[in-house]
Amino acid sequence: MTTFLDQSHIDLAAQTLRDGELVAFPTETVYGLGADAMNPQAVSKIFEVKQRPQDNPLIVHLAHPDQIGQYARISSPLEQTLIQKLTPGPLTLLLENISIPDIVTAGHRSVGIRFPDHPLALALLSLFWWPICAPSANRSGRPSPTTTQMVLDDIDGRIPYILDGGACLWGIESTVVKVINDEIVIYRPGLVTLEDLTDLWDGQVVVRYATLDTGESPWVRYRHYAPMCEVRLLTDDVSLFDNSESVGVLVMHEMTTHPALVWVRVYDRWQSLAECAQRLYQSYTQADHDGIQILYVQQLSEHGLGTAIMNRVNKSVMR
Ligand code: TXA
Ligand code: MG
Repeated sequence: MTTFLDQSHIDLAAQTLRDGELVAFPTETVYGLGADAMNPQAVSKIFEVKQRPQDNPLIVHLAHPDQIGQYARISSPLEQTLIQKLTPGPLTLLLENISIPDIVTAGHRSVGIRFPDHPLALALLSLFWWPICAPSANRSGRPSPTTTQMVLDDIDGRIPYILDGGACLWGIESTVVKVINDEIVIYRPGLVTLEDLTDLWDGQVVVRYATLDTGESPWVRYRHYAPMCEVRLLTDDVSLFDNSESVGVLVMHEMTTHPALVWVRVYDRWQSLAECAQRLYQSYTQADHDGIQILYVQQLSEHGLGTAIMNRVNKSVMR
């Protein structure tokens, strides 16, 4: 479903935000559920609609890097470089918070700042000009929506307005990073990969994933990005495929010759990792529509974009 949008739709979306209401809008990653980040009452509606735990902070979206100084502090040349080289784009930078309300940051000292690279998101942000905080536009724990229909399937009737931008280009959420002691720490892998970040400084800067034990990554405990059906990793054990009626296999990157493929429902076979990422959540939703109860997902090797995809898959496997 792609609807032609004109300026009046953007005007109405901005007005809806000014009125303290929520607007779902497309970004290049996934659809966001936006509120005026400076209006705590409006922000509280996001937590209600999503049934999101209050301790999970929201990302703040801005139109232009010139706006950062009012809301957050850039305190390292590495942060400056990340902004210069990788925005707008699928990157969220955790910076020291200055003025963003506690409800948005869940009381953390840092705030996630992102500049989405999508014409509708940018048009809305440029018109509204205040920061828009927006998590993915799904109920908490569910797959992030990558089409308007997925937003409607999940939260229709609970939000007043949605800007329809068709399917999102990337399909999984932004990479979340923080600069700590001159290292780049990845809190959530995404489209901007560890390899991309390493190359940005020709290997001269340490880039690493956050570790659970130091509490650097507090929200990774919960099942997340998950369809209604049970998700399991595909192994070679065919005896698992007893009830083939309600079992599906999600074939991701390379073709597999797994014996189960001849007698269970097979979801897509994709040519590239980018395509895997773009279609992952749609396939999850499709499996639910088809009444699949157990979905086996082919595993990808964890480097480059494969890390981000398997991060989402592994979270949806958690119980
Ligand atoms: O691509 C995206 O990032 C999408 C689009 C809509 O921008 N947004 C998104 O938001 O995925 P959400 O809320 O679904 O995921 C944001 C992640 C959460 O895991 C949250 O815990 C983390 O970023 N996060 C946000 N602010 C944080 C902060 N101040 N400190 C630590 N983690 C933070
Ligand atoms: Mg989310």
